Amino acid sequence: MNSNNQPIGIFDSGIGGTSIWSAIHNLLPSEKTIYLADSKNAPYGQKSKEEIIALSMKNTEFLLEMNCKLIVVACNTATTNAIQELRSKYDVPFIGIEPAIKPAVTHSKTQIIGILATQGTLNSELFHKTTEKYQDTKIIEQVGHGLVQLIENGDINSPEMTRLLNVYLTPMIGANIDYLVLGCSHFPYLIPQIKKILPQNIQIIDSGEAVAKQTQNILRDKVGFSSYENSKPIFYTNTNPKVLTEILGNKYSVTEKIF
Ligand code: SIN
Repeated sequence: MNSNNQPIGIFDSGIGGTSIWSAIHNLLPSEKTIYLADSKNAPYGQKSKEEIIALSMKNTEFLLEMNCKLIVVACNTATTNAIQELRSKYDVPFIGIEPAIKPAVTHSKTQIIGILATQGTLNSELFHKTTEKYQDTKIIEQVGHGLVQLIENGDINSPEMTRLLNVYLTPMIGANIDYLVLGCSHFPYLIPQIKKILPQNIQIIDSGEAVAKQTQNILRDKVGFSSYENSKPIFYTNTNPKVLTEILGNKYSVTEKIF
């Protein structure tokens, strides 16, 4: 495979997909990445399928104008509702994120697992198709109402966040889950709080590393790797950059752009 110095494009409904960006950046430091946060339209989780498709196309077109060689849909809601349409309309490879149900089911001893995701993800056809495959395991689905908005507002450590997490997780603990799947790219930022609520025997799984590996495979097999020595990632948002800058540890500059 030839080398290919075009950037990798990554988009999310907001800042949460930076959890995926970070896994990709760590695994593939020689790649140039462009991250797009559509925070103005977050959360996607309560929007109609048609709206999610339209927003995902707009984000894709922005990244294609930046000459991206591959696009990572770093949003579970956009993946489950729009990735088929994106793949059929555009000529570039797309990598989506799906909740890590398979590893949780495979390793669960109680055969009861929990998933915390948005309404849009849990209602989607793709999610139902995935869970249908695992009839022997009880999968407890919980919509994380309000969590994405609190994260987007920078209220990760607020009392309201702790209250909501307790409301959503307590029934799962009572039901004897031994794996909790984080089915939204925003939720890895809640792991410290979630760990305070869950007993130690319950494992938490998110999709970051699996998506990064998949990106590496597609670059190797189809697209080609870049060879930058010190590539600086680029971040765009369509709202005030403050929260995105903070979640990135104030290490990168973020450009506010209307798109
Ligand atoms: C949302 O925008 O509602 C959450 C994004 C996700 O599902 O990952």
